[in-house]
Amino acid sequence: MTLKPLFLAAVAALSCTAAQAQTAPLKVGLMLPATGTFAALGDAIEKGFRLYVQEQGGKLSGREIQYMKVDDESDPSKATDNVNKLIKRDNVDVIVGTVHSGVALAMARAARESNTLLIVPNAGADAITGPQCAPNIFRSSFSNWQPGYAAGVVASGKGYKKAVTITWNYAAGSETVKGFTEGFEKGGGKVAKDLNLPFPNVEFQALLTEIAAQKPDVVFAFFAGGGAVKFVKDYDAAGLKKNIPLVASGFLTDGTLEAQGASAQGILSTLHYADNLDTPRNNAFRKSYALTYKQQPDVYAVQGYDAAQMLGAGLAAVKGDFKQRDALQAAMAKASVDSPRGKFTLSPQRNPVQDIYLREAKGVNNESRGVAVKALADPGRGCKV
Ligand code: PHB
Repeated sequence: MTLKPLFLAAVAALSCTAAQAQTAPLKVGLMLPATGTFAALGDAIEKGFRLYVQEQGGKLSGREIQYMKVDDESDPSKATDNVNKLIKRDNVDVIVGTVHSGVALAMARAARESNTLLIVPNAGADAITGPQCAPNIFRSSFSNWQPGYAAGVVASGKGYKKAVTITWNYAAGSETVKGFTEGFEKGGGKVAKDLNLPFPNVEFQALLTEIAAQKPDVVFAFFAGGGAVKFVKDYDAAGLKKNIPLVASGFLTDGTLEAQGASAQGILSTLHYADNLDTPRNNAFRKSYALTYKQQPDVYAVQGYDAAQMLGAGLAAVKGDFKQRDALQAAMAKASVDSPRGKFTLSPQRNPVQDIYLREAKGVNNESRGVAVKALADPGRGCKV
């Protein structure tokens, strides 16, 4: 055999594997909470993600999607081991996760070190699109600062002067409160007291007594999932709801209104989504979600759906060839995402630049009362890439 046929055979073998790689399923690792206070949030994110893929015929740019799943239990102490199950054991191409900021910070570290593509579909930890940012790390949701800051702008705009804040003592709680304080104090208000308790505790009584003693004009709260249901009910049962208005980060009443019942009605909150946005895009999304899952979507479902849209935009730019990572990531970073929340783009730190709505809890919906802050971008402090 001369060298030429040998060479041609080698080329043929190589291009064959390259072609196979482009048509083989793309492995998506879903690291979300399936148990604990955030379990329902993880479920909605997964449903949203799968819905978008299903709407594309089960494939993104010709690539079937294969899902691998890990329950992260919203437990930061298990986060590194859990994310390594996806990166090292399952060899996934992309990781989508998670809800809890502390868990997501460990995921971002592992993703950066292994250069695995990561799309965060909820956790707001400011550092993920700040000091910990990297070209392979994207967020389809928000930074903790964003809804907090907007709530501060709303509360000061209503003329409230004295606020008390209450939250869980972890990254999402403290950063959301920091955003609120910045917006509120810029508008002339003053935060008199920050109250908190460990995540995911729900023993609120002593703190509610403290709120009554402080007699603020307004209370700002960040809780989510099961903890938010209990807080809203306890706030009402303690007799505080009728005396001291709550202005909350929208997670307090998102995906929770049915369980909160009358206690949540009328609560004002700020978030990048409202259920009743009357746009063709949101109406089509809600209809498709309700038909598929026999339940209504919430903000978490939107964030999961948009994570899939972002991945889809990247894959489309490289015609499904995931190996072209730089081009894929560049396309994701430049994408204009046609979200049910309204179109958004990404900041240079790869966090959504988005309108933050003022919402009022009405029945089982968080209804928009207009835009609280238009095209709000997280400052992305400390991001070097
Ligand atoms: C977070 O930990 O970043 C977090 C959790 C639940 C939410 C929002 C943020 O609803």
